[in-house]
Amino acid sequence: MEIRAEQGDIVQQKVDAIIVNLFEGVESPGGATGAVDQALDGAISQVIKDGGCRGKDGEFTLIHTLGKLPAPRVVVAGLGKQEDFTLDKVRNIAAGAARFLRTARCVSGATITHGAGIGGLDPRDCAQALTEGTLLGLYTFDRHKKPKDDAVELEQLTVVESDDSRLDAVRRGVDRGTVLGEAANFARDLANEPGNKLTPTDLAERARAMASDAGLECEVYDQPWMEEQGMGALLSVAAGSQQPPKFIVLRYHGGGSSHLGFVGKGITFDTGGISIKPAAGMEHMKGDMSGAAAVIAAMGAIARLKPEIDVTMCVPATENMPGGNATKPGDVVTAMTGKTIEVINTDAEGRLILSDGLGYVNALKPDALVDVATLTGAISIALGDVAMGAMGNSDALYDRLQRAAEAAGEKVWQLPMYDEYKEQIKSNVADMKNTGGRNAGSITAAMLLQEFVDDTPWIHIDMAGVDVYDKVKGTTVKGASGIPVRTLVHLAFILADDPL
Ligand code: BES
Ligand code: MN
Ligand code: ZN
Repeated sequence: MEIRAEQGDIVQQKVDAIIVNLFEGVESPGGATGAVDQALDGAISQVIKDGGCRGKDGEFTLIHTLGKLPAPRVVVAGLGKQEDFTLDKVRNIAAGAARFLRTARCVSGATITHGAGIGGLDPRDCAQALTEGTLLGLYTFDRHKKPKDDAVELEQLTVVESDDSRLDAVRRGVDRGTVLGEAANFARDLANEPGNKLTPTDLAERARAMASDAGLECEVYDQPWMEEQGMGALLSVAAGSQQPPKFIVLRYHGGGSSHLGFVGKGITFDTGGISIKPAAGMEHMKGDMSGAAAVIAAMGAIARLKPEIDVTMCVPATENMPGGNATKPGDVVTAMTGKTIEVINTDAEGRLILSDGLGYVNALKPDALVDVATLTGAISIALGDVAMGAMGNSDALYDRLQRAAEAAGEKVWQLPMYDEYKEQIKSNVADMKNTGGRNAGSITAAMLLQEFVDDTPWIHIDMAGVDVYDKVKGTTVKGASGIPVRTLVHLAFILADDPL
């Protein structure tokens, strides 16, 4: 799929379909939609009058041009009510429009930038959102399916800007949107891959290949190195698996005065270990490296968009399996920092591997540290599949994360980290235990992580509620969501004092 910006007249585009738009309630369209309507001798206005096109959000109306235009089809995308219009609407509408064209078996399309006209939004932001939405909306994961003989893919979309003075802005938006959309889709590719096709070794190889394309420093460390570092918490999770664990490090040098750290949970499959999970739905645990996928993919986008900041990312990667050598409930393990953890439940493995990931990056004394993990089922009880949970020790960093998420059209909400919650993870035999009971399960998990970050400004993102979807709606498709890749990239720019 290629998206490019061009100066021109939407009416004159020689493509399989052109896309124009309509706000709800508008009876005689103006702007580009009006120009197309005129070229069609009022066909769009007529369809509006007949009630066939109402401009509702999510509505797409196909009109055949029957030789009146170079393009054989016009698609009118409904934008909903003008007062409710946002950049996120642009993303979702672009996603729906792209799928509509694909279903109509169009190989090429041309579109105006929704929102930049009477929508009144910034043309660069609109072009960026349009591009992100198109790439996210068209995503499918079918590399393990036999290709269909009659499959048609939308291969090219031209974003047409009539005003020469705005073309540069639109072009910049398309370029950024391409990087961000492709990065999110790369995270989806990693997270959708089943556990037998994406072991810790495979994940490290995929990260390494991306790093060499994008120009990132990459180091992949093996078990003997983890032993030298004293990463007993990570190794205790790996103990039950036949697959060797990997510790993946990516570094980006953007200069500037700030250093950001990322840590991603890289459990390539979570059986629960000896505290084994029930069979129903266990296949979803192939996605337990979604946090790792997000930070890896975000690093790729950061390398391409070049914020003025240094970023160090690490991913502790392992399977969580039962086995003769597996960690047992009651075992005590020692993390890299020297703190000990009593393993009450081997299914609370994410916080164990993250304690060593956080310990590693924290030792580099970054100015901000963000970890991303599918950590607890409890976060879905709290926030459902709408928002990720955030917990940490810095309101200033949370505010910036909130701004980043807003810019990305992803949602995050903070849970409190009151000292009282620490009671729940007190152990009789070790410095802490790895479960804190049913109450406040996401927070007690974060309380354990906090033990490994000192006073570094830190935020933990629990994305277990938003990692996969089983529906197609706007930018959401079935399978891995690619959240929060775009938020992380925006955050890097905000921390570099240069918001995207
Ligand atoms: N990977 C799971 C969390 C999870 C659950 C992710 C559902 C995505 C969807 C995590 O390792 C886990 O098993 N957490 C346990 C912790 C409990 C044993 C304290 C949980 O949430 O049940
Ligand atoms: Mn688990
Ligand atoms: Zn897990």
